[in-house]
Amino acid sequence: MHDHPHNHSHGGAIEGRHSRVYNRLARLLMRPQYRRIAADIASSAPHGAAVLDIGTGPGLLLRSLAATRPDLRLTGIDIAQDMIDHASSNLADLRVDLRAADVASLPFEDDTFDLVVTTYSSHHWGDPATAASEIRRVLRPEGRLLNYDFERAPFTTLETALAQTSRTNFRAPWSLVMKTIRFEARPPMTEQ
Ligand SMILES: C[S@@+](CC[C@H](N)C(=O)[O-])C[C@H]1O[C@@H](n2cnc3c(N)ncnc32)[C@H](O)[C@@H]1O
Repeated sequence: MHDHPHNHSHGGAIEGRHSRVYNRLARLLMRPQYRRIAADIASSAPHGAAVLDIGTGPGLLLRSLAATRPDLRLTGIDIAQDMIDHASSNLADLRVDLRAADVASLPFEDDTFDLVVTTYSSHHWGDPATAASEIRRVLRPEGRLLNYDFERAPFTTLETALAQTSRTNFRAPWSLVMKTIRFEARPPMTEQ
């Protein structure tokens, strides 16, 4: 399938025509995938948790999360302003904080989020080591990162700043063509 939403080899931002195609195909084909991932996130998210979705793209994971768990406080960032524009229109009826930003320079205070989530984005990040320390910085000490991505994602680099708690195969509707790893990590314990 030539125009499959995840079938692209270029790295970094997905912009312009690519973002329009991605938005259209994601809306058409990927909703069951987002629903499955949102259910997994929802099953462990504390009540009222502040959740950041990095590389949110068209924002459809946030849409599923809002439907499953209206108590969550949702924020989404993407390096591509075009994607943030698609997300703003897809989430126009919801209260979600959406901003254009690079994961390597997150526009948030330290200790802001209970959960950082990200789907099929981390394999695009230009500087995963800086991304990892930024994620650690914005996570509360008891917070967690949940990253759903392909095997080639920089999981090992993410472990440099975060303590891995698990890395498992994730079963979802598109698993056959999008073999997905569920990677969970926490900020490491700080010495007293
Ligand atoms: C394959 S899309 C995934 C979008 C969405 N999470 C999903 O599951 O449909 C990858 C997204 O990551 C974004 N991205 C790439 N590099 C990024 C970075 N350094 N910081 C933030 N977002 C980034 C791209 O612009 C794109 O929207």
